[in-house]
Parts: sequence; C-alpha cells; structure tokens
Amino acid sequence: MNGASQLQSDSSNVNWPIKINLKTFSIIKKILLNVLILFLCCSFHNKVFAQKFENLAPTPPMGWNSWNTFQTNINEQLVKDIADVMVSSGMKDAGYTYLVLDDGWMAMERDSKTGDLIPDPKKFPNGLIPVIDYVHSKGLKFGLYNCAGTKTCAGYPGTRGYEYQDARFYASLNIDYLKFDWCNTEGINAKEAYTTTSKALKLAGRPIVFSLCEWGNNKPWLWAEPVGQLWRTTGDITAQFDGIKNYGNWHANGVMTIVDMQDTLRKYAGPNHWNDPDMLEVGNGLTPAENRSHFSLWAMLAAPLMAGNDLRKMNNETKSVLTNKDVIAVNQDVLGIQGFKYSDEDSVQTWFRPLNNGDWAVCFVNRSSTSKAIEFNWQNENAVDVLFNKTLDATTATYKIRDLWSKKSTDDTKKSLKAIVQPHDVLMLRLTK
Ligand code: GLA
Repeated sequence: MNGASQLQSDSSNVNWPIKINLKTFSIIKKILLNVLILFLCCSFHNKVFAQKFENLAPTPPMGWNSWNTFQTNINEQLVKDIADVMVSSGMKDAGYTYLVLDDGWMAMERDSKTGDLIPDPKKFPNGLIPVIDYVHSKGLKFGLYNCAGTKTCAGYPGTRGYEYQDARFYASLNIDYLKFDWCNTEGINAKEAYTTTSKALKLAGRPIVFSLCEWGNNKPWLWAEPVGQLWRTTGDITAQFDGIKNYGNWHANGVMTIVDMQDTLRKYAGPNHWNDPDMLEVGNGLTPAENRSHFSLWAMLAAPLMAGNDLRKMNNETKSVLTNKDVIAVNQDVLGIQGFKYSDEDSVQTWFRPLNNGDWAVCFVNRSSTSKAIEFNWQNENAVDVLFNKTLDATTATYKIRDLWSKKSTDDTKKSLKAIVQPHDVLMLRLTK
C-alpha cells in the first residue's frame, strides 16, 4: 500500500478535520504543480526574452577605446600593443578591463554570399579571432563597435536588418562588449532598434555588455535600463576643458559642457545601468589640472571610465591620473549612486557623492581661469541626498578627511576647510566617519 492510499483508507475512519486536510492536500498539490509550471515557463521566457544579461556591470565599466586617438586607423599590431601596455602600465591592475575597437574595424562591404560582417583584411590580415584570443590571454576583455543604422558613422556596414545575424557573429568571435552607435538611422525608433539588438545579443547566448551610443537624442535613460548596461547622455566629447568645438554640421563638447548636462540624470543611473558622459580625454592635450578635474568629475558621476589616449606613449602625469586608485575607488563604489552638484558659486562647483559605509566623496572644481580660495564649514552645510535618502551630517558625526590627489589625510569635519583651488583644477576629498 503506498502512502496516498494509506491516507485514503485511513480517512474513512477519521473525523472531518482530517478529511478537510486531505482535500486541502490535493488542492495544495494542484497549486504547487501550477506554480512549478509557471516557474518553468517564466524561466524559459526570461532566458529567451529578457532583454539583457544580468549583472554584467555592477560598477561602471572600465577600459580603453580606440576612437578618441586613432579614429579608424586601427590594426592588429595596435590592439596587441595596447593589450600589452594595459598590463605593463598598471592600467589592468587599476581596473581597466575592456579593450574596445571602435569604428573602422570592418571591410567596406559585407560578405556578398552570407551577409556576414568582414574584418578589414588589411588591418586584420589574420581575422579578428587571433587578436581577440591575444587580448583574452592577457586577462582582458574585448569589445567591438557597430551602429543601429544602415552604415556606421564612418561609413562602414551598419546593423540595420542584420541584428540577429550580427549578434551571432559577435558571439562566435567571443567578444565581451558592444558599443552601438546611432548614425544613418533616419526613420527608426531608437527604443525599438536598441531593444532588437539587445534581444539578439541575449538570444546569441554570449554575455556581452551592451553600450548604447545614441547621444541622448531619445532620452535613453527613460527606457534603456532593461536594454543595456550604459547609455551615452550627450554628443561626442573633445579634448577641451570647456565650451564646444564646431565642425560645421556637428559639434563636440568640452568636459565642463558635458558635466552641465549630467546633474538631472542621476536618478536614472545605478548598478548595471549607467549614464555615460562619453569616453575619457585624459592624456589627449588637456593640462594636468584639467586631466585631474575631468577624471575626478567622471568619478563623481559614476561614469564608465574608458581611457581614450595612446597608452603606448602616455607620460607619468597621465598615468598617475588614470591609475589614481583612490579616485577610481570613488568611481567604482558599490552603492553606485551618481553624485550631485551641491552648489555652483563664483565659478566653483561643489559636488557630493554618497558612498558605501556612510562615506562621502566631495569635489570642488574651479571652472575659471583664476585661482579661487574656498572656505567650507562642514558644520553649517547641509548635504542631503533627497533622492537616495543619504545625509552628510557633520554636526552629529565627525568625518576624517583624505585628499585624493595629494594623498594627505588633512583635518576632520570639526574644522572649516580652507583651500586654494588653481584654475581648472580640483580638490577631491573622501570623508569617512
Ligand atoms: C560617433 C560616436 C563616437 C564614435 C564615432 C565613430 O560619433 O559618438 O563615440 O564611436 O561615432 O564613428
């Protein structure tokens, strides 16, 4: 006699609460079966239809991208040299992981028979696989670029109409990151286009960070969280501290001009979904002070840190900015809360960013061309992050202060801070209770 019939036969001789229990038992059995079926359906649905891979960018992605220095002048040797120097310079140890080839890696036409993308045979005579294997062998990850339109911004074959085929191609190459641009997209709906490629990547099965490069035209912060891990918020950056650079039918933005466009977007960013104010111009002609300010602000903004300089030729000053571990620690803080502009007076901006364990990062940037004296009485200020419910309260707690560029631990928040900030320079502090 099995257990069920044992229960059945026993039930005829017992009083009604037990009978109710047996009925309940069979109802529960049915419910559990249905829940199980529902669970299996949901898992299958998520596997096939969820729009992005989970947890690929819990902190902002860090790496190097070819565009800002090399544009389309890229090739196999350059990639290998950059991979080598990412390791030997300490960039990899500092957290830079992705080596991303931007526009210009493809031949001008797709394969006429298969429609597949073809790596430019002159730039990559051995194809991309040995190059990608080389990058992986250094413990780095590899990324490529394409575009939602019919052609990329530099005129190479775009992905429109080939979304699923291209995604399978990237997966077959074992890439880890895809930057996806927005040129030649007349008449396309941005959310639909990026969602299609996101689904295609998911279906292709290889976890690939999806970097939307749509320049903020269609407010991706409102819809891209399920689609990708990061989205550009502005047009292109240029190696200039402030203002814009005009190129006739388009313009590029200086560092501070981009910063001006970020503050209202902080509520949309967080782990695995970052606002991207564009790649770094550190080492591309900014002054040492400007390099420091640019890097500090990208850390305050929880921005992806994609170096864009020629790492083979970087001087010690550039290297020390890009590998400043204290500033990187602010950028990579696990809470993932984007900082906010606290005040903007007399050309000095003050930024605050709440960090894990109740720490705070504070950054004073002098936007002007004259030095500025700052005085900041922690006791009288009231830094409250209403959106994320965090308060820096120097009246009830005392914070130790560390200068993240001079590396000196200065006073604590019982005393007013007094400092001179040089033109275009920054004072960046970490406060710890
Ligand atoms: C656009 C992007 C840049 C770069 C170029 C490549 O301008 O915004 O970051 O990828 O295209 O052509």
